[in-house]
Amino acid sequence: MSIHIGATPGDIAETVLLPGDPLRAQFIAEKFLTGAKCFNTVRNMLGYTGTTARGNKVSVLGAGMGMPMLSIYVHELINEYAAKRLIRVGSCGALQPDVKLHDVILASAASSDSALNLRRFKGMSFAPTADFQLLSQTYAAAGKLNIPVRVGNVLSTDLFYQEDEPDEWKFWAKYGVLAVEMETAELYTVASRKRVQALSVLTVSDSLVTHQNLTAAEREKSFTDMIKLVLEVV
Ligand code: HPA
Repeated sequence: MSIHIGATPGDIAETVLLPGDPLRAQFIAEKFLTGAKCFNTVRNMLGYTGTTARGNKVSVLGAGMGMPMLSIYVHELINEYAAKRLIRVGSCGALQPDVKLHDVILASAASSDSALNLRRFKGMSFAPTADFQLLSQTYAAAGKLNIPVRVGNVLSTDLFYQEDEPDEWKFWAKYGVLAVEMETAELYTVASRKRVQALSVLTVSDSLVTHQNLTAAEREKSFTDMIKLVLEVV
């Protein structure tokens, strides 16, 4: 067991899906995997390993909200459990008028307002990017399944609530950033450091442009479509 994951090496597959919400991890395991076994209950951050319809071993672990928390899980998955392929399955808020609710975004890169990489790179700038093979395979699978996807830059923010500067997102929107979420820049940075593959696949759950939100039922439907897409790849 590692500090935050109560599994023994071998319990976790090389491919790990990372939703933010541990109950989403349970939902994926119960709905999409056969023979799923729970490998983690530490902090109620549920994790499961099972088999896909095609017979591939896959794990799914909640990674929480925000970059510091995801960073801990990703480090331990790679260092202690030899994970090789990490796919975040999450939600995001649209920053562009032509990015609509339910759209699926493949984050080719992640900008950030976080201090994490400023600290890590001593004030210099690193460009966190997706693994090209995973990205191109997922893009191809989306075409096959007729799921429209957008590929581009996302913003990984540290502030869900930005009360003092509520329009700050418009600055990123000017530079073509498609959507905002809270984890991808750190996922891509750690994956680059450790030479493993990473991709963030995101459904648009709200829009900062139109102030629309998906209902809980709509979020679940969008999430299910996105999981089907990801399981086509893994
Ligand atoms: N902001 C930050 N993270 C998010 C959002 C948002 O609007 N929607 C989904 N994740």
